Order: sequence, then structure tokens, then C-alpha cells
Amino acid sequence: MNAIEMQGIGVRYRSEKIRSLKELVVRGLARRKAPYFWSLRDVTLSIASGESVGIIGANGAGKSTLLRVAAGIVCPSEGVAISRGSIVPLMELGTGFEAELSGRENIFFNGALLGRSRAQMRSQLDAIIAFSGLEQFIDAPLRTYSTGMVARLAFSIATAVDAETILLDEILAVGDAAFRQRCDERIHSFVREGRTVVLVSHELETLVRLCRRTVWLSHGAVVADGASEQVVADYQRQR
Ligand SMILES: Nc1ncnc2c1ncn2[C@@H]1O[C@H](COP(=O)(O)OP(=O)(O)OP(=O)(O)O)[C@@H](O)[C@H]1O
Ligand SMILES: [Mg+2]
Repeated sequence: MNAIEMQGIGVRYRSEKIRSLKELVVRGLARRKAPYFWSLRDVTLSIASGESVGIIGANGAGKSTLLRVAAGIVCPSEGVAISRGSIVPLMELGTGFEAELSGRENIFFNGALLGRSRAQMRSQLDAIIAFSGLEQFIDAPLRTYSTGMVARLAFSIATAVDAETILLDEILAVGDAAFRQRCDERIHSFVREGRTVVLVSHELETLVRLCRRTVWLSHGAVVADGASEQVVADYQRQR
């Protein structure tokens, strides 16, 4: 069964702002189509349940957009996207967190956004704090945390809540070596448990280690999709 299925997905954004009603009418009369920018175009992709898939590509290639579509955060302008089972997205740092709340309160806050009850989060609380290694700071407001500390907390929460699929967008990059090692192990154990992992990363070595399959995006389109070693080697050669 597929955890994620995409058929002819396109995501477009308006690249020019229409500032007034007059401008809109004039454009309409001139039958000038509003110029669009396509972040993704004609992407067809299936990710089987239990697969670990890496996504690579240059800045602006559409990797984050792809994950947002898979997570249901962005609605595609064309095509069909289906995601099955529970999904936990771990996207830009800081989303789903409140700067004024403490780390501990943010665990409940973020959990609620992921659809988890207070009781569910309470039962995971100790494990989350222990994995994050933030015991000393857990009652301090999040605004006092370093970038790496926020990443630790976010990763610990996302991987503690029970989900069939986890989507990770460049989240490991800011952690220190010790934490990265623990993240690697946790992602491996996710894969062993038969969960689905999709990982966006510019760190190609990590990606090859964690993902069997890699999809290479360029200008919003899939240019290669196959065994990670092969796709990453091709990607490195063409840069
Ligand atoms: N909300 C938006 N409004 C307008 N354009 C957007 C929006 N979100 C993304 N884009 C555009 O879509 C393209 C793809 O963006 P995306 O964030 O998916 O790239 P990416 O592959 O994740 O890049 P990076 O490696 O820098 O994270 C970019 O050109 C970006 O400017
Ligand atoms: Mg991105």
C-alpha cells in the first residue's frame, strides 16, 4: 500500500501582486493571464508504506513544497495528492511553537497541533525531555533557546508521537554531532518498525545513509528517482 501518492501535482503561486480592483479589471479586459510561478509541475510520485525516501535538489527546487503537499498544508493547484495514515510533519523550525511558553508547555502545545491530547502528551513527557537532552532548560521560555535546542525539542516531539509517516525538512542540519547521531538512530528504528520516512536534506551523506531511495527535484520537476547512491552520484556530477 502507498503512504503517499501524487498524480500530476502542480503548485503555483502568483508571482505579481495585484494591488487594486482597477488593476484586476484592466488585466481581465486585456485578457492577460496573471503570471504564475510554478513551484511544482507535473509531479507524479508514489511512496510505499514503510519506505524511506530522500528528496534532494537546489534551493528553490520545490522540496519543501512537495513535503507541504504531502502533509496537506498546501493544496495543489492541479493534480491529485493522497496521503494515508497518520502523518507528522517536521518543517521549518519554530512552526507549531510559542516563544513565550516554556519548553514543557510547548510539548503540550505542539502535541495539540499534531492532534494529540494532553493525556497522550503527558504519558510521553519524560521520554521527550530525556531524548531532547534539555532537562535543565525545559521550564525556560522557548525564546531563550538556541536554534539547535529548538530543533532538538521539535525532533523529540515529532518522533515521540505515534505516527505512521514522518516528514522531515532539513531539520537535522542544526543539531550538534551527538544529537545528530541519536537522530540517525531514531530514524533507523522508525524504518525498522515499518514506518514511512521522507527526508529533505542537502547533506547527501546522511541522506544516503538513512534513505534507500532518493528523488531529485529540479525547477519543480522530478529529474531522477531511484537508489540513493545512484541518484546522489548523478546529482553531484551535474553540479
Ligand atoms: N508561499 C509562496 N509564495 C510564493 N512563492 C513560493 C511560496 N512558497 C514557495 N514558493 C516558491 O516556490 C519555489 C520552491 O520553493 P521551496 O521552498 O519548495 O524550495 P526548496 O526546494 O525547499 O528550497 P530550499 O532548499 O531553499 O529549502 C521557490 O522558488 C519559492 O520562491
Ligand atoms: Mg526547503
